[in-house]
Amino acid sequence: MISSQLQLASYLLASILFILSLGGLSSQESARRGVWFGIIGMIIAVLSTIFGEGIEGHAYIIAAIVVGALVGILVARKVEMTSMPQLVAILHSFVGLAAVLVGYGSYLDPETQSLIGADRTIHLIEIFIGVFIGAITFTGSIVAWGKLDGKIGSKPLLYPGRHLVNISLVIGAIVLCYFFVQGIGNEGMYALYLMTAIALFIGVMLVMAIGGADMPVVVSMLNSYSGWAAAAAGFMLGNDLLIVTGALVGSSGAILSIIMCEAMNRSFWSVIFGGFGAAPTGEAMEVTGDVTAADHAEVAQMLKDAESVVIVPGYGMAVAKAQYPIHAMVDHLLAEGKLVRFAIHPVAGRLPGHMNVLLAEANVSYDIVQEMDEINEDLPDTDIVLVIGANDIVNPSAQDDPNSPIAGMPVIEAWQAKQVVVMKRSMATGYAGVQNPLFFKENTDMLYGDARDSVLKINDELLRV
Ligand code: TAP
Repeated sequence: MISSQLQLASYLLASILFILSLGGLSSQESARRGVWFGIIGMIIAVLSTIFGEGIEGHAYIIAAIVVGALVGILVARKVEMTSMPQLVAILHSFVGLAAVLVGYGSYLDPETQSLIGADRTIHLIEIFIGVFIGAITFTGSIVAWGKLDGKIGSKPLLYPGRHLVNISLVIGAIVLCYFFVQGIGNEGMYALYLMTAIALFIGVMLVMAIGGADMPVVVSMLNSYSGWAAAAAGFMLGNDLLIVTGALVGSSGAILSIIMCEAMNRSFWSVIFGGFGAAPTGEAMEVTGDVTAADHAEVAQMLKDAESVVIVPGYGMAVAKAQYPIHAMVDHLLAEGKLVRFAIHPVAGRLPGHMNVLLAEANVSYDIVQEMDEINEDLPDTDIVLVIGANDIVNPSAQDDPNSPIAGMPVIEAWQAKQVVVMKRSMATGYAGVQNPLFFKENTDMLYGDARDSVLKINDELLRV
């Protein structure tokens, strides 16, 4: 058992470590240190909570932690890098569910029932808000998991009058909050049940209304919601550390969502309220024309002839694990004295920073990795752009077709280069499910096949004298 003063000091230390952890995660060089700060902070937080005053049943708590940790380790070891977003989404749903359960537990706690006056009102409102945010996070995250995993279609589910329905449901929940605070025993419980059902429904509908290309924002937004749900649980349990931690996650998730919305030229509010005004009014343009294909030897020759090369990696690079042979190819081209750079789109792949992580894993130097905005202006002077497993992030429809589901999203303007080679397995669409006119352009050649195999074959050709 530790004293409440020592617990408070530990909470303060853990809070500082969490802030240092977030700071560390802001750059690739300090990310590892940031993760360690987070781990140490969490160990201190958990130990000082379970060994705090008034906590009983340590054997059960420790057994639950051991079982949870074992499941966590097994899942994390098994999960592929390409399935990370799904894992993150499902973990958010656990935070939401935990907030709902804490809310119900807190309401049933005899101590809550014995509160009177303003203390009672405040505590009941905390419970109500906590359960509301938790339930939205829970179902919203499950739908996000389904969409990211391809179990639910990526097309937005938009029905007429949906905003009216959502607003009426939120007003209904506010009215229920009044009954919940006024009600005693069963009456309050019914209001809580009804509000939970409403919030579960809102969670489903909010994420169902969001189209494939906007999913990155939803993931970071649900991350933010899970933080607020945890903070609400902190209020219910009277745990200051949980409030601080939840607020850190909630606000950092909200900031990330805003940054991603700006990167994708989307309104933050429209994404939060489930695709407000995002539905295109007409039919998307039909893509027509001829597609030309090249073989590995031809692409190797194009690279030999080029002086400047830009590589645009996408989700397919992650699937094929092509980053290692790509690094070897880049080293070879750099040794030949060519200008070689990577162009990274903010939502390439399926996670914020997905491509940066993969390239760092393959030890590609940060100096040649550039952001979309930096590289776009250089593309007209570039000899060849290699698009490796990317699709939506190089789709010209985003600029040319106002009715495209990705209209307005900034893209890497690969077609501006003198020559483009797209490496993918087929003519299949990307995550947003839209055809890509880039493939039909005169200066574009397709190189069909798994990205890793293709790069390995090009490397063989490049080394052949
Ligand atoms: P996508 O548009 O999803 O295109 C990836 C392409 O890779 C596919 O068209 C696929 O074509 C190809 N591919 C798959 N496996 C391959 C393999 N083994 N070898 C070669 N090619 C392969 O990816 P993107 O351009 O990176 O764009 C990302 C999309 O995901 C955006 O719409 C974005 O909004 C969305 N999204 C992003 C995030 C974050 S945070 N980054 C989160 C959720 C959703 P084939 O099947 O023909 O090979």
